[in-house]
Amino acid sequence: MTAHGMRHEADSVLHSWCVPADWDAPTVVGGEGAWLLLEDGRRILDLSSLSECSLLGHQHPRLVQAIRDQAQTLCFVTNQWGARVRAELAEELLEVSGLRGGRVFFTLGGADANENAIKIARLAQEQPQGAVIARDRSYHGASYMGMALSGDARVQAFVDAGALNVHHVPPPYPYRCPFGTSSPEACGRAAAQAVATKIDAVGAQRTAAVIMEPNAGSNGIVPPGSFWPALRRVTRDRGVLLIADEVMSGFGRCGHWFAWQQHGQPHAPDLITCAKGLTGAAAPLGAVIVSAAVYERIERRMLPIGLTYCGHPLSCAAGLAAVRTYRDEGLIERSRRLGAWMFERLQRLQERHEAIGEVRGGDGLFAVVELVADRATRHPLAPWPQTPPALAALLREALAQGLSLASRGNLIILAPPLVIAQAELADAIARLDALLARHLSR
Ligand SMILES: Cc1ncc(COP(=O)(O)O)c(C=O)c1O
Repeated sequence: MTAHGMRHEADSVLHSWCVPADWDAPTVVGGEGAWLLLEDGRRILDLSSLSECSLLGHQHPRLVQAIRDQAQTLCFVTNQWGARVRAELAEELLEVSGLRGGRVFFTLGGADANENAIKIARLAQEQPQGAVIARDRSYHGASYMGMALSGDARVQAFVDAGALNVHHVPPPYPYRCPFGTSSPEACGRAAAQAVATKIDAVGAQRTAAVIMEPNAGSNGIVPPGSFWPALRRVTRDRGVLLIADEVMSGFGRCGHWFAWQQHGQPHAPDLITCAKGLTGAAAPLGAVIVSAAVYERIERRMLPIGLTYCGHPLSCAAGLAAVRTYRDEGLIERSRRLGAWMFERLQRLQERHEAIGEVRGGDGLFAVVELVADRATRHPLAPWPQTPPALAALLREALAQGLSLASRGNLIILAPPLVIAQAELADAIARLDALLARHLSR
């Protein structure tokens, strides 16, 4: 029981990505805009969009209404039959992704979007178990294939990526460039070249696909501008399909509908996976957007894909309302504008706080603040992926003050809902400034 006489989830529920005995998170009873309302009456300003997914804020009235309306009409029809709302959403996604003439396969979330993207790519390449290249320091989901694809230290012991024919290359991480260059652009090109070298080593004929996050990801790496175009070139030259995992970076998070679009249509991937912002998190849904060229190659093949609830009409209704809301409220452009402003404010924080080694991102409302023990040597505050105690204390105090921040390892990740008011964001950054001074000043 909580102090308010309510049942406490710790007595009955297992939670994700935590040690059960340590779990101690607040109970949320409602929300509005960038705010969450707790059962003890406190309000929390949400700078994380709750796992970077509530891009439209909490309880957006259009999403609530769309789910309500759909529930009155048709709660469920299997994915093997048709539903109007599913077709409408697919058309919108093909339009905003620029993959016109392609097709959309709906999933339940991000991990199974990636699973199915791999299946579809392997089918299209006529390599049912063809090699897939992913990168270190990436996150693609917590299903078994998701874990195999992810370069994530937390799950590596649970899965044999090699047995699933998944191969990893070093990441485009200029701040700690694994290729030993101090030039961000050279680092991006070297990371793409590492993919080329891996494909050549495995054999282009035996490599079905490359999967990468084009921008924002929970591992806090923001690739330099040179990376994606070079990656597109090396995959196209070798006839290997390129999958953009846009689960976190999609729907305006990085200032475009999809982050790769910052590089222009010639650099379009062959498949896009998305989830999170697809419904603004009002209902669970993911999608694989398949280009027309890939669709042509699978059009006459049996697709061994799908879970019972794939493309659930209630979720598709939320998705359709979300896409239209991003467009009608101009939120993609707003993210770009406000993201640039937020980035500039964070850079000012870096001038004041020695503990900030780098601020990266800023292509939309997504930024990563990397904390270091020594700015000159870039020595990390704690070895990756551990969370330094000072940062843990900062996050606890932030929450106690009514500010929720996302974090991983040495990183503070700022990913507010795209509807956050500028004054709310300014207030959050001012509070972060004070928290950094209290917990991390030297
Ligand atoms: C880039 C990326 N891919 C895939 C996933 C997995 O999505 P889900 O948790 O919906 O399965 C995530 C989740 O954080 C993600 O950030």
